Amino acid sequence: MKHLLTTKDLTRDEAELILDLTGQMADAVSGREVPKLPTLRGRTVVNLFYEDSTRTRTSFETAAKRLSADVVNFSAKTSSVNKGESLKDTALTLQAMGPEAVVIRHPASGAPQRLTQWVDGAVLNAGDGTHAHPTQALLDAYTMRQRLGGVEGRTVAIVGDILHSRVARSNVWLLTKLGARVRLVGPPTLLPTDIDAWPVEVSYDLDASLRDADAVMMLRVQRERMNDAFFPTANEYARLYGLDERRLGLMPGHAVVMHPGPMNRGMEIAARVADSPRATITEQVANGVWVRMAVLYLLLTNGATR
Ligand code: NCD
Repeated sequence: MKHLLTTKDLTRDEAELILDLTGQMADAVSGREVPKLPTLRGRTVVNLFYEDSTRTRTSFETAAKRLSADVVNFSAKTSSVNKGESLKDTALTLQAMGPEAVVIRHPASGAPQRLTQWVDGAVLNAGDGTHAHPTQALLDAYTMRQRLGGVEGRTVAIVGDILHSRVARSNVWLLTKLGARVRLVGPPTLLPTDIDAWPVEVSYDLDASLRDADAVMMLRVQRERMNDAFFPTANEYARLYGLDERRLGLMPGHAVVMHPGPMNRGMEIAARVADSPRATITEQVANGVWVRMAVLYLLLTNGATR
């Protein structure tokens, strides 16, 4: 593995290896007085973020620092210049600094793939347009392993704005590869038109979809990617596709509620559901650091010095 661009091109063995390593990272660091490993000392990781991010950027930064790497943060604005050109120029500037890894978030699907042509180091996709967000799916799978004892054979409902969601896409490929059954639930206007080609079930009925789900993953309605009305009103959306306490009560007792953040409380998820012990939202964030440590470690050492 040289880069991490999508979960679609991970083999099942690679995915399982990353999840196993994630657990080892958590164990290795948690017991220490100083929560750091010397593994990537002297290596440079560049964070190149062309899109807003709270969790993912700080998580990658924390992960790199816990492995003792040097971290350089670039944050770029999206709207100013032709994306292809500005990305290339920036990449060539970065390349002159010789980083061992570049973490990139970009509004254009495929930008991380293009970056691999211009830099020698490993490229880690931290979210590209509506295409992919592999570390998010990996941290979600890891959270399921912890909370549900595994992914194989579990039923996962992914609910809401599937159309604009790279989180949904990356989870579909990863979770089905790991043996889960994935059901996408949302209004027809927010489901992709090529959905028949995906290895998933599709439903428009949230209540019915919750009854046998082991995990439900609520997605943010991505208004910044919408230039049109995809649903009548926020209230109407919440009524049909929001997870409130009544709906939480429909799920099996062991089932968990997930959300990648940022949340629109009161829209796709009620505040009391988000704050309930059934929700894994803060665990997902915590697990994100371990997952990113595992991925950085694998890509930068090829699994050596273990
Ligand atoms: C997601 C993203 O940016 O793709 N957030 C995240 O990385 N945790 C989902 C979103 O923006 O709704």
